[in-house]
Amino acid sequence: MASKRICIVGTGYVGSVTGAVLAELGHHVTCVDSNPEKIKLFAQGPPFPISEPGLPDLILKHRGKRLFFSADLSGAIADAEAIFVCVSTPTKTSGIATGSFDMVYVDAVARSIAEHARGDVIIVEKSTVPLKTAERIEEIVNGTAPAHQRGKFHIVSNPEFLAEGSAVRDALKPDRVLIGTRPADEFARTFMNELYAAFPQEIILHTRLWSSELAKLANNAFLSTKITQTNAIAALCDRSGADVTEVSRAVGMDGRIGNKFLGAGVGWGGSCFGKDLRALIYLLRHFNLEHEANFYQAAHDLNYLLRERFVRTMHDSLYSLANKTIAVLGFAFKPLTDDIRDAPAIDIIGMLAAEGARVRVVDPEAGMKVKETFAGKPGATNIVTVPSATVALTGADALVLLTEWDEFRRLDFTIVASLMNRPAWVFDGRNVYDPAAVVRAGLSYYGVGRGVLRSSTFHEP
Ligand code: UGA
Repeated sequence: MASKRICIVGTGYVGSVTGAVLAELGHHVTCVDSNPEKIKLFAQGPPFPISEPGLPDLILKHRGKRLFFSADLSGAIADAEAIFVCVSTPTKTSGIATGSFDMVYVDAVARSIAEHARGDVIIVEKSTVPLKTAERIEEIVNGTAPAHQRGKFHIVSNPEFLAEGSAVRDALKPDRVLIGTRPADEFARTFMNELYAAFPQEIILHTRLWSSELAKLANNAFLSTKITQTNAIAALCDRSGADVTEVSRAVGMDGRIGNKFLGAGVGWGGSCFGKDLRALIYLLRHFNLEHEANFYQAAHDLNYLLRERFVRTMHDSLYSLANKTIAVLGFAFKPLTDDIRDAPAIDIIGMLAAEGARVRVVDPEAGMKVKETFAGKPGATNIVTVPSATVALTGADALVLLTEWDEFRRLDFTIVASLMNRPAWVFDGRNVYDPAAVVRAGLSYYGVGRGVLRSSTFHEP
């Protein structure tokens, strides 16, 4: 397999993992970023600016051999056969097209490519982008490049399906490699086939550009609404006495549905699901598909309502949150990452503190982000970060599990109970604990869609 010369623009989760994995596949990769501090850390670390299992090993294995980190954007572009656009596409929060992706960084990269690229060059959309972004990039590059370079740009959509915490594994063993190209662009298809020659042929899927761009949004819409659908059933379970974990087990055994992403709890967070769902809603409204937009809007809004409802349940169980000491286990939006973007914990802790609760937060990787997150916000003085679950739980009135890190899953409830006040509650925001074990230890339990079990009234069947 011929090694390709690749330039990665943007060294966030997507860019850094994509770069390291392409180096592992045998290619020569230069990663650039507009933030020189980040590049310095990648070039000199550990520590690295991104916390992702397996990433440090890959970087250390290939750095200086076929993986390079550079602040020289123009040089890296001029040298590359393919440029991967991995810059962020945040939600646009004001003005025209609010809710869609903000494309300011993508546009800037396209302009740089137009200025510095040499000869036939592949431009890969790796960031999640709106439909028809390829057209936009084409217009920018062909409109601004020098005359001899026009028409030499080949736009490819090759979306990532990496989940944080397992991104390296996902990228090395993908379910599919999706490649969207213009039907007549044989050059781009051949290049991409060679780039991914190490993967089995049957997982390489070629489509039109627009189908590939939309498939990424559809994928995340399916996953996020699958979780929200489970949470809607969980709400009914709470009212009716059914247990959502049993319902999900039964439903997940249907091969057409599958047993993943059926976990009820405080709902989804992270930088992708909310952003992509909002972009899909924007797109549907743009095309006057109001009913379809409303379908996704309802799922979106329900996800965020869960956070309030969870705090409401805590309030009603404890009668009042004021002056209660609450141990919050987990701050990151999911385990194995320090990423807190759109983490349910941010909203939930904020509401608890605003109600006057004394909140102690512990998270093995994201704990140091707590202080800066709440600085200047109402109730900030009620929130502290502590180094361990033991410290958080000592003298606490409630344990709240928001991120299911292994060390929090494995708690011994006889020890937990010996540390906490009485009466004390366990609010299981990720449905990982055994309610019977919690109640046997003398604590009351609430799990989302599993109802309330009070320690004093619980009888084992
Ligand atoms: C998601 C997708 O899973 C990836 O395929 C996609 O590439 C990525 O977005 C992206 O667009 O970049 P990610 O947000 O990193 O990945 O993490 P997920 O594992 O999907 O978890 C998202 C949220 O859903 C987390 O807050 C998690 O706690 C929650 N979740 C997950 C549930 O509430 N219940 C479940 O059953 C599963």
